[in-house]
Amino acid sequence: MEENWSAMQEKAVQWIQEAGELLRASLEESLVIETKSNPNDLVTEMDFKIERLLTKKINKEYPGHRILGEEEAGADITDTDNIIWIIDPIDGTTNFVHQQFNFAISLAVFENGIGKVGIVYDVMADEWFTALEGKGAYHNNVKLSKLKPAELKEAIVGINARWIKNEKIPYARQMRNIVDESRSTRAYGSAAIELCYVACGRLDSYVNLWLAPWDFAGAEVLLREVGADISTIDNKRPSMLEKGPYLAGRPGLQEKVRGMLNS
Ligand code: IPD
Ligand code: CA
Ligand code: CA
Ligand code: CA
Repeated sequence: MEENWSAMQEKAVQWIQEAGELLRASLEESLVIETKSNPNDLVTEMDFKIERLLTKKINKEYPGHRILGEEEAGADITDTDNIIWIIDPIDGTTNFVHQQFNFAISLAVFENGIGKVGIVYDVMADEWFTALEGKGAYHNNVKLSKLKPAELKEAIVGINARWIKNEKIPYARQMRNIVDESRSTRAYGSAAIELCYVACGRLDSYVNLWLAPWDFAGAEVLLREVGADISTIDNKRPSMLEKGPYLAGRPGLQEKVRGMLNS
């Protein structure tokens, strides 16, 4: 059956709009905050609420589709067959809790491991990043241009200071060299937003060694449409099922970034 990806995207945008309103309203109330893997890994009642809201809508509209979410949905998924919706209900939970800014809802629809629909909604900036496979990527409904190559010495690299601070962290020395050779660095605390910034040219490259599929899935559909170079450190396709390194940026520039990580 030929799927209507554009109709799926339209519905998902409406659901995310509703979810975004709930998130903005929740900032007026006091939030229940818990920790997950460590004291700095936060989760709030809103992460669960938003994932459940989106899961309910998808199940009702598309009962045959599977769902993979950060908090609850699809923990048993071990393959990428057929259609999978990938949800990060709040990407940038630390920002949601501490800053009430710079967090996003990310949603993607993948078919047999290929991104078909991508949506990242920066809730407080009210910025929409959307893409359909083969139809281009959009920022607030304005089509994004293809990415042009860049030199590292003129590039702004998205990288977090915590990842380069000491030798116990894998690739810390190599990442420090990348930081040294770049024009400058930025860290916004939401991988989905940072990857969309690569897609729209606000960042030239983004380096993260521990990304999960829900962190990058929505943005990846945009990145492919603008011709970004997406890879692991050894220039493989990042896994849709496991956490791992995720590098994305301008063509040409990424060869240099990978080369330095492997040096
Ligand atoms: C996190 C953010 C953060 C990235 C982490 C992610 P979360 O997602 O995207 O920027 O560095 O690797 O886990 O937990 O806020 O959804
Ligand atoms: Ca999280
Ligand atoms: Ca995330
Ligand atoms: Ca999250």
